[in-house]
Amino acid sequence: MAQAKSWVLMKHFDGFPKASDFGVKVEELPEPKDGEVLLEAVFLSVDPYIRLFSKMYMKEGDVMIGTQVAKVIQSKNSAFPVGSHVVSSCGWTTHSISDGKDLTPVMADWPKDVSLSLALGAIGMPGLTALYGVEEVLDPKAGETLLVNAAAGAVGSVVGQIAKIKGCKVVGSAGSEAKVAFLKELGFDETFNYKTVSSLEEALRKASPDGYDCFFENVGGHFSNVAFQQMKNFGRVAVCGSISIYNDSTPQIGIFPHMTINHKQLKIEGFQDTRWKHKDAESLKRLMAWCKQGKLQCREHITKGFENMPAAFMGMLDGDNIGKAIVAV
Ligand SMILES: NC(=O)c1ccc[n+]([C@@H]2O[C@H](COP(=O)([O-])OP(=O)(O)OC[C@H]3O[C@@H](n4cnc5c(N)ncnc54)[C@H](OP(=O)(O)O)[C@@H]3O)[C@@H](O)[C@H]2O)c1
Repeated sequence: MAQAKSWVLMKHFDGFPKASDFGVKVEELPEPKDGEVLLEAVFLSVDPYIRLFSKMYMKEGDVMIGTQVAKVIQSKNSAFPVGSHVVSSCGWTTHSISDGKDLTPVMADWPKDVSLSLALGAIGMPGLTALYGVEEVLDPKAGETLLVNAAAGAVGSVVGQIAKIKGCKVVGSAGSEAKVAFLKELGFDETFNYKTVSSLEEALRKASPDGYDCFFENVGGHFSNVAFQQMKNFGRVAVCGSISIYNDSTPQIGIFPHMTINHKQLKIEGFQDTRWKHKDAESLKRLMAWCKQGKLQCREHITKGFENMPAAFMGMLDGDNIGKAIVAV
């Protein structure tokens, strides 16, 4: 019999999450029945959507939601042999039982020299999000200028690199000097630290005096208000997320951008990566190929220890991570 240790939401977050909002639960798991497997967590993902979805879908006492790469340690399901690895959405837990329906086997032929943790990052959901937001929503042409914010993070860093592969001029903003240096290493054309520039408007204008054809939006709030003003006519915006407002208890009141959107005839589209689920297998192969060819650098920010899940989650929301924030058990 296995024992599962899990992090639970003790108290709904009010503003930025606090350590006291999380608690630990321990339970004995039953033996897997026919068709079931017993999983052991290897890498766990901390993602911004967890903060957003906590208020929409969770109640106090629930196990924290999230995905993990897990190893099959007992199997009564021939599709998932012992020793194989899967991506599971079982949440912040060390062990779990599954009937396989919510499991995605880690890509067949995963190279031995590539960490399985990337199945939660550049060769997983965040990488797919970047790929679909760029290719399916923005569809940039070579020579166009693409802006991405939260650019040094899991999604943003992949967005910029894909846009470079497609021949774009790429402008990225991020929240520290170390992140800006990382973006330069990745080949971004123009970069700035949005926390230290004296004027966001001037920084955006200096980076691309002619304006922007495409904007991959991860941040929302004030940043979008300023960026919309600098879109070119017929510019395209892919609204991937709005992390700057996820911790708000009281909604921010913005300027209303409708006149700009109308005047510049902007096309603004929100999207979820799951819309293109039917393309995932082929897309993951492409991301892996770029990674192996050195065209896609897959940086990670790894926190060691399951006991540090809340700290890793809060750190990611606070901008500690360069690349994908991961917890290694
Ligand atoms: N639509 C989809 O299907 C989908 C899927 C995955 C992710 N997303 C969205 O994509 C965005 C990025 O997610 P990710 O997983 O790649 O996270 P991430 O960028 O790896 O980590 C979050 C980053 O957000 C930045 N941030 C936090 N608070 C901010 C604020 N007030 N203003 C500006 N930046 C702030 C921090 O970087 P700095 O140091 O640069 O501030 C932090 O490192 C999020 O909005 C997320 O919700 C959407």
